[in-house]
Amino acid sequence: MKIDVVTIFPEMIRSGLSHSIIKRAQEAGRVQVAAHDPRDHTTDRHRSTDDTPYGGGAGMVMRPGPIFAAVESLEPPPDARIVMLTPQGKTLTQAMAHEFAQASHLILLCGHYEGFDERVREHLATDEISIGDYVLTGGELPALVLIDAVVRLLPGVLGSEESAAGDTFSDGLLEYPQYTRPPDFRGWTIPEVLLSGNHAAIANWRRKEQFRRTQSRRPDLWSAFQPSKSDLKLLKQ
Ligand code: ADE
Repeated sequence: MKIDVVTIFPEMIRSGLSHSIIKRAQEAGRVQVAAHDPRDHTTDRHRSTDDTPYGGGAGMVMRPGPIFAAVESLEPPPDARIVMLTPQGKTLTQAMAHEFAQASHLILLCGHYEGFDERVREHLATDEISIGDYVLTGGELPALVLIDAVVRLLPGVLGSEESAAGDTFSDGLLEYPQYTRPPDFRGWTIPEVLLSGNHAAIANWRRKEQFRRTQSRRPDLWSAFQPSKSDLKLLKQ
């Protein structure tokens, strides 16, 4: 997969991706990420990427020219997903991360100031994504969030130990609690079943904990959950 990020802070993207699993994924050639500064596609003396809004009002708006030129210089294939990161977009979900992970080329557009000229939204972007109902100073952290969520789903990026299969949300439920040594930490002990060696009992306990957590913390996920036959049995116990 190829990911290009159009940003006036390319170093934020490069440094954000130079650690841990995402760094290794790039080194292994699973994904090629590059950051591009729209400033390199300006023609005025000040190399400006923003301007005052038509109709007046506070703040500045990202000019369309440098953004279109930066994207066009990447020669995107017709099926490229061109994603604006803004608080007006659809809220990112795990299902959307899986969908983006199918694309061969992602182009992420990071906004600043009061946002993009509307013509970027209408005539360039294919998608508009928010990472949640709060406002950040720019689209770079949201772009990093999207990249992380997508890249870890690419084949071969996670080892079997870290596998995405048991993720929270992969079956619509939150994860069960985990414990490691010591079994007694400051007098706080771990659930006895985990020391029993009874694998079936452990699996049942974990599944029930998933139910309990999801019910109490995320009623929205719980009401959408489709229990299997064995889930229904456990729910009746
Ligand atoms: N830009 C500023 N805030 C944002 C958010 N919450 N999601 C995506 N892009 C943003």
